[in-house]
Amino acid sequence: MDAIVSVDATSAKRVEQPRNAAERLAQLVYEDMRLVDALILERMQSHVTLIPDLARYLIEAGGKRVRPMITVACANMLGYRDEAPLKLAAAVEFIHTATLLHDDVVDKSGMRRGQQAANLIWGNASSVLVGDFLFARSFTLMVEAGSMKALGVLSSAASTIAEGEVRQLAAIKDIGVSVETYMAIIGAKTAALFAAAAQVSGIVAERPLAEEMALETYGRELGLAFQLVDDALDYSGREAALGKTVGDDFREGKVTLPVALSIKQAGSRDGGEDEARFWTRTISEGDQLDGDFDIALSYMRENGALSATLQAAHDHATRAREALAIFPKNKWRMTLEDLADFVVERAY
Ligand code: IPE
Ligand code: IPE
Ligand code: MG
Ligand code: MG
Repeated sequence: MDAIVSVDATSAKRVEQPRNAAERLAQLVYEDMRLVDALILERMQSHVTLIPDLARYLIEAGGKRVRPMITVACANMLGYRDEAPLKLAAAVEFIHTATLLHDDVVDKSGMRRGQQAANLIWGNASSVLVGDFLFARSFTLMVEAGSMKALGVLSSAASTIAEGEVRQLAAIKDIGVSVETYMAIIGAKTAALFAAAAQVSGIVAERPLAEEMALETYGRELGLAFQLVDDALDYSGREAALGKTVGDDFREGKVTLPVALSIKQAGSRDGGEDEARFWTRTISEGDQLDGDFDIALSYMRENGALSATLQAAHDHATRAREALAIFPKNKWRMTLEDLADFVVERAY
């Protein structure tokens, strides 16, 4: 494959001695990800300097690059080596980066990737507009990849993400949010992009529909597991490891699964009245006092909502792993399978 861009300025990391599945994946895709990263850095350029200034700030802070790695690894698993998956991988990361810029404005987040969130430095308007620029650039990359079908899948994922984010916004402070509604929200805002990231590799590799759909299932189930873990960690995680503020969901009154399950059991169990009142006051009424976050966390530990959330993540990760069973058992498949387990293990 010819070099599609200069790879001097790349942040892809070579991992000498991988300690877990994510690092093994990073090692396997190192050469491809160097190209993807170089493409990302090249395509965030603009003569309007605020755009590369802000984009570089977020992009060079790293991020796990898990979605583009999935695209690249799935293409390799299928034995397909070409420019198209690399361009699509870059497009996927651009869509993700754009949604993070928008999401931190919506969630009023102060921290992202271990540093001050861009909206705190440049303001909300700049974050939203640079996010729009990155979205638009993702479409250029998708067109260059040359597959109308892949373009269709990724553009539909982009609108689904926005639907998920809007639906979540409309459900804020609503303690009536059911487990089904929550799953639909995370299916849209997170799993749709994971699903598309995997599926497009099958599309450009021109694999049979059954394989394409198996990749879609892998991505979707992995994405659900990923967001379930992320939502558990928003209560039980450590800021230093996450690179973002713990407790944002509680402060914003978001009914994620740990809260939805807590509310459900408090309402149905004898003696759950105090806890039910606590959730109504803090989430529904948004009336939070110092120390309430710690109380919420201890309720969730006692009532089993956190472990049930991680169990749900584990179940989806298992389904992701199983979806790959139809592919030849090569090192790529095994690493993608391990990645499914790792997504859940990072919660412990
Ligand atoms: C953050 O995604 C948004 C969620 C879907 C939870 P990542 O955790 O993949 O973010 P980065 O790219 O590694 O920073
Ligand atoms: C991230 O969602 C944005 C999308 C998935 C579109 P969250 O708001 O749940 O994730 P963090 O905690 O900010 O990364
Ligand atoms: Mg957020
Ligand atoms: Mg959000």
